[in-house]
Amino acid sequence: MNDFFLKCILCGEEIAAKPDATVCGRCGGNTEVKFDLPAPPPRPDLRQGPPGLERFLDLLPLRSAASLPPLPVGPTPLIPRPDLAREYGVSRLEFKDDGRLPSASFKDRASAVALARAIEIEAEEICTASTGNAAAALACLAAASGRRPYIFVPRSAPEGKIAQLVTFGARIFLVDGNYDSACDLSLAATRKFGWYNRNTGFNPYTREGKKTAAFEILLQRNWRVPDVVVVPVGDGNIISGIHKGFSEAKSLGWTDRVPRLIAAQSEKSDAVSRAVRGDGTIHPVHATTIADSISVDRPRDGEAAVRAVRESNGSACTVSDEAILAAQRELASRTGIFAEPAASCAFAVFRRAVRDGTIRPDEEVVVLVTGNGLKDIAAVTRNLGRLPVVEPDISSLEKILSTKPFGE
Ligand SMILES: Cc1ncc(COP(=O)(O)O)c(C=O)c1O
Ligand SMILES: [Zn+2]
Repeated sequence: MNDFFLKCILCGEEIAAKPDATVCGRCGGNTEVKFDLPAPPPRPDLRQGPPGLERFLDLLPLRSAASLPPLPVGPTPLIPRPDLAREYGVSRLEFKDDGRLPSASFKDRASAVALARAIEIEAEEICTASTGNAAAALACLAAASGRRPYIFVPRSAPEGKIAQLVTFGARIFLVDGNYDSACDLSLAATRKFGWYNRNTGFNPYTREGKKTAAFEILLQRNWRVPDVVVVPVGDGNIISGIHKGFSEAKSLGWTDRVPRLIAAQSEKSDAVSRAVRGDGTIHPVHATTIADSISVDRPRDGEAAVRAVRESNGSACTVSDEAILAAQRELASRTGIFAEPAASCAFAVFRRAVRDGTIRPDEEVVVLVTGNGLKDIAAVTRNLGRLPVVEPDISSLEKILSTKPFGE
């Protein structure tokens, strides 16, 4: 096992990685894992080695692969679309489809590592607050490891995500409030009952799981660093994890640079984008976007997200909810990837960033698809009323076809 410690993202305080160490005792800032590596580990190999996150064990804060859940978490496909790249006028366009992970979202990476850490420190009870996906990921992987976490989600969470939680056997509290109040309640429960808390931002081990997506992208691109990675942002922990992965790969000598990271947000949940455009300070907003996974008033890892954008020389970009839904339809109908609205936000921002010149024609771009569309179908099924209904006979079908119901 590698030695590691925690370091405060805000004040730089170094903290021993004791079982109960989470946020900074000095300033309350979030912390990140730092490694004392005796020598840089060799580049992992996609064709050899164990599946899932085990492949990256040298760079995970875990004693052993045995504590990881017995479900493979990745690798997920990196899908090149030269035709769309040409159409949009970029040198290369690839979709990293993390909707194919065990619980159908990127959050499996984070929950796997946070859960393994909980198992290693022999935590008895585990809890998390979530907009839905982090909880579904924890419930799924905990079920595989024979455990039942306590879950706090807003009562308005999409039915698909709640259905996952119920079926995985989690102990669920539907919080009569938004995601922010679910977070606060779960932290109060942690203080009161001593539960291990997996919350985004609060728990530094989630970022460690998330960074593995960056490693995978590099492996799948044969160590050629993309120019730009577009990442949907709510709390800001995914983008900070992606940045940590690319930065570690560079500092280990595996690569020579990091990509520019573009933080993708809805105009109706744009706290991180405002901070990037302003002086870097996070001010809460009143989030109302239909993209529930990125609907966040007070980003729980906002400072780390701003740092990821700035240090990578990246930017932040917002789009309307209508543009998110249009991007969801285009992505699904052109590529076969059905992304939930939050995940589609990254593609919507890609389209905008190409138009406004933020992404240049000579650039190679990866769009991160963070969650499967089946998790939240309400946004899509609103339009089902327009579908043609046909009597089950061929003449009715002929009659409807003659009206060109699909517009061809
Ligand atoms: C599908 C999806 N995309 C993007 C995000 C945003 O991640 P973060 O909150 O770490 O910024 C989430 C978080 O829940 C998510 O579930
Ligand atoms: Zn601090």
